[in-house]
Amino acid sequence: MKQLGFGLMRLPTIERDDKKMIDMDLFKKMVDLFMESGFTHFDTAYGYHGERSEGAFREAVVNRYDRDRFTVTDKMPMWHVERKEDLDRIFTEQLERCGVDYFDFYWLHALNERSYRKCKEVDAFGFLERKKQEGFIRKTGFSFHDSAEVLNTILTEQPEVDYVQLQINYLDWEDEDIQSRLCYEMAVKHGKRLMIMEPVKGGTLASLPPEVSALFKAYAPDVSDASWAIRYAASLDAVDYVLSGMSNVEQLLDNILTMRVLKPLSDDERDVIAQVIDALSECRAIACTGCGYCLEDCPMRIAIPDYFKAYNNFVMFGEPERWSSFSTFRRLGEKGGKADDCIACGACEGSCPQLLPIIEHLQSVAQLIRDETDDE
Ligand SMILES: NC(=O)c1ccc[n+]([C@@H]2O[C@H](COP(=O)([O-])OP(=O)(O)OC[C@H]3O[C@@H](n4cnc5c(N)ncnc54)[C@H](OP(=O)(O)O)[C@@H]3O)[C@@H](O)[C@H]2O)c1
Ligand code: SF4
Ligand code: SF4
Repeated sequence: MKQLGFGLMRLPTIERDDKKMIDMDLFKKMVDLFMESGFTHFDTAYGYHGERSEGAFREAVVNRYDRDRFTVTDKMPMWHVERKEDLDRIFTEQLERCGVDYFDFYWLHALNERSYRKCKEVDAFGFLERKKQEGFIRKTGFSFHDSAEVLNTILTEQPEVDYVQLQINYLDWEDEDIQSRLCYEMAVKHGKRLMIMEPVKGGTLASLPPEVSALFKAYAPDVSDASWAIRYAASLDAVDYVLSGMSNVEQLLDNILTMRVLKPLSDDERDVIAQVIDALSECRAIACTGCGYCLEDCPMRIAIPDYFKAYNNFVMFGEPERWSSFSTFRRLGEKGGKADDCIACGACEGSCPQLLPIIEHLQSVAQLIRDETDDE
């Protein structure tokens, strides 16, 4: 049976003393419902919820259920690792925070080309193997955010890992940056089993524009938009676990319903999803195809298509996409020109095959960034 995993990154919160705290009463209730429904897997990490996720897991799960009734993944935050010794120190701290004496699954967290270099410097994969032999880890792996090519390099050089955790959802499946399909195929080629993160794209696929959601509703009026996304990820053969961050009881019950008697997608249902993907691309505020022709001549080194993509995501999906869009804006502004660095020279517009008014669109992006930053 494919498993629904309870992602402990988006737990219910309450305001206390001007701080956002995990709502432990509600979380415990959700844990009980989850366990009663037959699911048993939890996914935490060192940094989730301002480093409070592991402790919340201990209080709601470890202190209330026998160790053989649940499984858990924890992850090594490679960005906190400077020297080899840090690996042992952090791992020991994590066992204590979680209140367990072994992890069922333990990953190197959020690997990409750069953090993989660090992993090699400190022999993080050797560390995983050692902890596995010592009985502190049952299955090893890593979560991953980069291209299929980088994944190929890691899996070729580190063939001993058991699992890969990938971001997979129907909108990112063919996305050129995220490369969900290519990464999935690469992991399968290397014989790995998979856990899936972001099946609902962090919530965006549960809050579709009404005209897009109508396509799902016309086919199956009684099921949620989120259930289509969860089934899409769960229908893949090599997937053992679909993780979902669930921030209230309704979401939890809905995802339990979807996963308890999982029906793989039929061909007709895949057609409906294809229509939804097309409709979502029609809803884009800026009809940029990401071809990159405009980039050649920009004297300000503005990553025009990347700005447009993050802007489209924010306009289409609103609040659930806010964090991702704004961290993209920040990253782009650090790597190259900011949206409001545009000097309106017009060099880019002459090379755009879609004839887009790039200068005007960049002004809209810059305005959005100003408006939203002012609100903070
Ligand atoms: N290792 C890594 O690098 C990494 C990265 C990302 C995630 N993860 C792990 O993977 C887990 C899953 O990723 P994710 O939390 O991004 O999963 P997700 O399922 O794509 O997104 C979770 C969000 O989707 C919405 N949602 C989920 N089910 C719903 C339903 N039935 N109806 C309506 N809305 C629903 C909720 O949004 P709202 O709260 O906005 O309502 C929820 O917070 C995380 O919790 C974390 O444990 C790991
Ligand atoms: S108009 Fe703006 S975005 Fe276009 S090439 Fe000139 S500086 Fe770059
Ligand atoms: S040339 Fe036009 S369509 Fe192509 S990436 Fe630039 S803005 Fe987008």
